[in-house]
Amino acid sequence: MEVIITNSGEELSCIVADAICKALASRAEPALGLATGSSPLPAYRELIRRHKNEGLSFAHASAFLLDEYLGLPAGHDQLYRTFLEQNMTGQVDLDPARLMGPDSSTGDVTAECARYEKAIQDAGGLDLLLLGIGTDGHIAFNEPSSSLASRTRIKTLTRATREDNARFFGGDLGAVPQHVLTVGVGTILEARHLVLVANGPAKAHILARAIEGPITAMVPASALQMHPRVTVVSDAAAASGLQLADYYKETYAAKPR
Ligand code: GLP
Repeated sequence: MEVIITNSGEELSCIVADAICKALASRAEPALGLATGSSPLPAYRELIRRHKNEGLSFAHASAFLLDEYLGLPAGHDQLYRTFLEQNMTGQVDLDPARLMGPDSSTGDVTAECARYEKAIQDAGGLDLLLLGIGTDGHIAFNEPSSSLASRTRIKTLTRATREDNARFFGGDLGAVPQHVLTVGVGTILEARHLVLVANGPAKAHILARAIEGPITAMVPASALQMHPRVTVVSDAAAASGLQLADYYKETYAAKPR
């Protein structure tokens, strides 16, 4: 696992954008797994800038949502599909038909989850999967106690996650859906490169548990320790609980180019 503790928001977003550019160049038809939430937004802005000013193209790529709320009407501004379209894919030349997500309007959740797993396989697997981390250690919407071998399925959100996300629903906890569809931890671990972004002091405690603590279903993000190619990109505040912070900094500074 590579842990990069960045010195500025600009450095953080450039490192994440560089990794995505590399994935875009890795295959004729690359597939990206893209997180929602606030953590990846600066990197998305950097990618949009590169598209507008430097000719970066997503025309040959597909993008896969990691998760989706159940029970929100089509077009709701908090559907993750809407979020990703507005903040990323709709602002670059990605073909709208190649933005994939679990269909939350489905009447058959089991069939829809199996279809989504197959869609990822049919795309040749995910070349890069960008993740945030919840304050309870969730990745995508794999809440604590999720199986580390789980696949796409329905999950019930914890109260803590719904409280965290209430800010996107006008502060109204009751408006945050209880159920979601999410790729599983097992699905995530099959992507070729995992990039986890963490920023802000609220993530310090859980980031330390995820990276340096034991692998446990109680911290689903700790499963990343089992993946051969993970890059954690953090700001100083989120990295403040890391025991080996100095080592990670020395390692990155001395990284053979
Ligand atoms: C949400 C999403 C996750 C995201 C996480 C952290 O609930 N399902 O994909 O990584 O919470 O969000 P944020 O980056 O806003 O802290």
